[in-house]
Amino acid sequence: MASETSTKNIPATDQFGRRLRDLRISVTDRCNFRCPYCMPAEIYGERYEFLPRNELLTFEEIARLTRIFAGLGVTKVRLTGGEPLIRADVAQLVRMLTSIDGLADLTLTTNGYLLARFAEELKAAGLGRITVSLDSLDDEVFRSMNGRNFDTAPVLEGIAAAERAGFAPIKINAVVQRGVNDHTVVDLARRFKGTGHIVRFIEYMDVGTLNRWNMSEVVTAAEIARMIGDEMPIEPVEPNYAGEVARRWRYVDGGGEIGIIASVSEPFCGACTRARLSTDGRLVTCLFAAGGTDLRGPMRGGADDDELRDLIAGIWSERRDRYSMDRSTLGSDETTPARIEMYQLGG
Ligand code: GTP
Ligand code: 5AD
Ligand code: SF4
Ligand code: SF4
Repeated sequence: MASETSTKNIPATDQFGRRLRDLRISVTDRCNFRCPYCMPAEIYGERYEFLPRNELLTFEEIARLTRIFAGLGVTKVRLTGGEPLIRADVAQLVRMLTSIDGLADLTLTTNGYLLARFAEELKAAGLGRITVSLDSLDDEVFRSMNGRNFDTAPVLEGIAAAERAGFAPIKINAVVQRGVNDHTVVDLARRFKGTGHIVRFIEYMDVGTLNRWNMSEVVTAAEIARMIGDEMPIEPVEPNYAGEVARRWRYVDGGGEIGIIASVSEPFCGACTRARLSTDGRLVTCLFAAGGTDLRGPMRGGADDDELRDLIAGIWSERRDRYSMDRSTLGSDETTPARIEMYQLGG
């Protein structure tokens, strides 16, 4: 039956006319960091039970679903977590994904701690790009922000190794939280100015349910641009493509560019083409969603590719998510109650 109604290779469009273009895959819910804004150490202690192995999608399942998503218009795939380099042999998954037709951009977001060990293998496997999270260069600030007392050195070594492996330019993501690391923003920008790498500052978001987010902790994109521009003049640059998440800025003296992600002060839901695949195989259509649709069950229950494709296309075609835009109607410390945690989601 499914083949008669099949939407084979027809690009999916949602209720607001947004295409399905990006797939963000959480390959593990585990992480070697305990960033207080994501996986607070007091909750995710030694005894915390992460997903058992049989609940994780296998590499074969991820590759199969990715191929189906590619048939629906996805051209960009990002592997995330948790920390993706914690999942055993993630380079093997990269190799499997590189054989999928239509994927123009295969990228991975890591906290960088294990990157020195894996950079070359990932490059050889065919990974296209790497983004490294690094919230501050100040060791004391960084130690408190990763919740594990790790210094910046291993992450900087990871970035250097990725550069040697041929991943340059590398994007470096920093979440900016007022009173926590905002005083180190300019230093971070300065450190990578002139290196070709692109630091992207992210407004602190009310994602997940555990970080007791409050608007007063958000340093807005305008403030971040002012802080950096006052020290090192910058000017805006046209987006690389419509719907680009980060606003681009370049140093007037030719020292390269930075990005600022204004998810709170200037939400970009209008052009959101991103779907997320959770570690346990749910399709989630917004970073702030309360739930998702199980794809693992039908897949393990014997659904064929056409059936899975129709299921995914149907969910996307019903999609009305625009959480960040709607949030502006809530009070400054108000959020919606139930949300999936970011590390399960492919942030
Ligand atoms: P490039 O492909 O390198 O341009 O990266 P990207 O635009 O896909 O951005 P990246 O995956 O590095 O995302 C950076 C950060 O932006 C994420 O960690 C999130 O904090 C935020 N972000 C990305 N996508 C979304 C989204 O759909 N909604 C919201 N609210 N934030 C997002
Ligand atoms: N707000 C903004 N960015 C966040 N990240 C995790 N939690 C938040 C949040 N509450 C970032 C991480 C990493 C990326 C995957 O998402 O720091 O850079
Ligand atoms: Fe780990 Fe990233 Fe969450 Fe930090 S933000 S705890 S590095 S998954
Ligand atoms: Fe997309 Fe949801 Fe983020 Fe808006 S809040 S950009 S709809 S993921």
